[in-house]
Amino acid sequence: MPSPIEGFSKLTKEEKIRWIAEHYTHDPKASISLFKTYWNKDADLQQLHDEFIENTLSNFYLPLGIAPNFLINGKVYALPMAIEESSVVAAASKAAKFWFSRGGFRTKILGTEKIGQVHFMYQGDPGRLAAFVEQIQPLFVSETLSITKNMVARGGGIKKVELRDKRQDLKDYYQLHCTFETLDAMGANFINSCLEQFAKTLQREASTSPILRPEERHLEVVMSILSNYVPQCFVRAEVSCPVDELGSVGDISASEFAEKMIRAISIANIEPYRAVTHNKGIMNGIDAIVLATGNDFRAVEAGIHAYAAKDGTYRSLTHASLENEVFRFWIEVPLALGTVGGLTSLHPLVKLALEILGQPSAKDLMGLVAVAGLAQNFGAVQSLVTTGIQQGHMKMHLLNILNQMGASEQEKKQLVEHFKKHSATHSAVVEALQELRKTS
Ligand code: MEV
Repeated sequence: MPSPIEGFSKLTKEEKIRWIAEHYTHDPKASISLFKTYWNKDADLQQLHDEFIENTLSNFYLPLGIAPNFLINGKVYALPMAIEESSVVAAASKAAKFWFSRGGFRTKILGTEKIGQVHFMYQGDPGRLAAFVEQIQPLFVSETLSITKNMVARGGGIKKVELRDKRQDLKDYYQLHCTFETLDAMGANFINSCLEQFAKTLQREASTSPILRPEERHLEVVMSILSNYVPQCFVRAEVSCPVDELGSVGDISASEFAEKMIRAISIANIEPYRAVTHNKGIMNGIDAIVLATGNDFRAVEAGIHAYAAKDGTYRSLTHASLENEVFRFWIEVPLALGTVGGLTSLHPLVKLALEILGQPSAKDLMGLVAVAGLAQNFGAVQSLVTTGIQQGHMKMHLLNILNQMGASEQEKKQLVEHFKKHSATHSAVVEALQELRKTS
């Protein structure tokens, strides 16, 4: 067990790699070499990536794939997806193709408000606090002008600063609950900077306010931070078609298929064990494009799961209906995304992904991301209620198993051919490769 190290962040990259390899890996020489294998040979590009975080040792690759043929609001898109799971891009592409000939996807932005809060404690008369906060409202705007100037010029900024009395939940607890419009920026830095200034203004003004009694003038600010729960920054994506146009799947008729889909969604709506997996499939699509476009997928995940549980039960994010012989399938999700600032202007592949998407606004991107989630869910549930998930999944996973077993290119080719006609379980692949090696 190595003893704690002082000043690790001050070591050079080479020194860090050597230290970690020597203290934590069984073959330091091989580990050092592996870290370096993943360095980019373009030193400037590597430095750019090194500087995204602290203590960078190397790069961690994820495949960047493309799901083409998405007809969205009448335009054809190819969606860039960064993801390691083998069947996700294939499933998205299949769903895109299916809906291309049935009118494609439509999206609608239902809101763009983002939230941040100053959490503070106050012991005193709530009426006087409310009057005091009302009196200093103009200062919240004037004292943040240097932060908000550019955002306001583009049409965004601070929308509202509300006092919220939370004493029912926690003794002496109040909030400034603040609403922002951050346009094409995700807005985390903008919101947090405004909030920290609000907190300073609040405390300073309270300390001398004639509205408050002397013993009420000490407000304790606990923290000032944006919320990743953005139920008012949300989007709907949907597809629909006459039920007959769904076509039959094997021996399942179009209307039977629609009913099976609706039943599966109803189960995900009432049964949290299923809902979590159902929504995980949706996040396969959402995270992949969120990541490829340089957005914060942890923020998106946290906000979406909270939204899925907003009425106290964790439920499906997608919905389906069959009315007047029309099958309709849709998703509503909160998404706080940016297409300017942060990684979007730094990471070369993120810039390329945004170019492929036609330099979308944040609103456009919200729609595209919601579509990726909806398409993924359609693909997953379609498989689940018809053939089962393993058939497609194992086909895609086949190459991973063969790579793990060190199969040659020739062996891979032969076995991919073989498993077009056979079920590709893990043991079947192992056996087939052994058999092939015996006979050749
Ligand atoms: C696997 O990554 C995702 C699925 O489990 C989603 C689902 O069950 O709906 C296939």
